[in-house]
Amino acid sequence: MNNRQLINEAKMARNKAYAPYSKHKVGAALLTKSGKVYHGCNIENAGFTPTVCAERTAFFKAIYDGEREFEKIAVVGGIEDEKVDVMCAPCGVCRQVMMEFCNPDTFKIVMANGKDNELEILLKDLLPYGFGPENL
Ligand code: THU
Repeated sequence: MNNRQLINEAKMARNKAYAPYSKHKVGAALLTKSGKVYHGCNIENAGFTPTVCAERTAFFKAIYDGEREFEKIAVVGGIEDEKVDVMCAPCGVCRQVMMEFCNPDTFKIVMANGKDNELEILLKDLLPYGFGPENL
């Protein structure tokens, strides 16, 4: 699956976002090495801290299903009803979750905006010197 297709999947996932507090809706589409796509959206909470990002929703669905091999994730996000013209970069917690389940040298993060610009970056460049399973 190419980046553009995966970005479109992330855009569809964004429609499922539950973001009544920030209004910042995010969608993610995670591609496994076997070719399956897991979708995620952010799910906010009145208590704020329990909020979960789109990326982690997608990862945890996939992990629950037994998936362990991942190729790339597309992320699209921005304030609801406004033009999404900035790239939505995964937060630090999501980068750490990726570090747990992905090879930082090969796993790719594809960020996109509403203008169809896209940026593909390796996990090792988003989380340099990351701490992962290899460290324990
Ligand atoms: N958010 C994500 O879902 N993914 C990101 O990559 C960045 C932030 C969510 C969390 C929260 O619901 C809202 O965006 C504002 O931070």
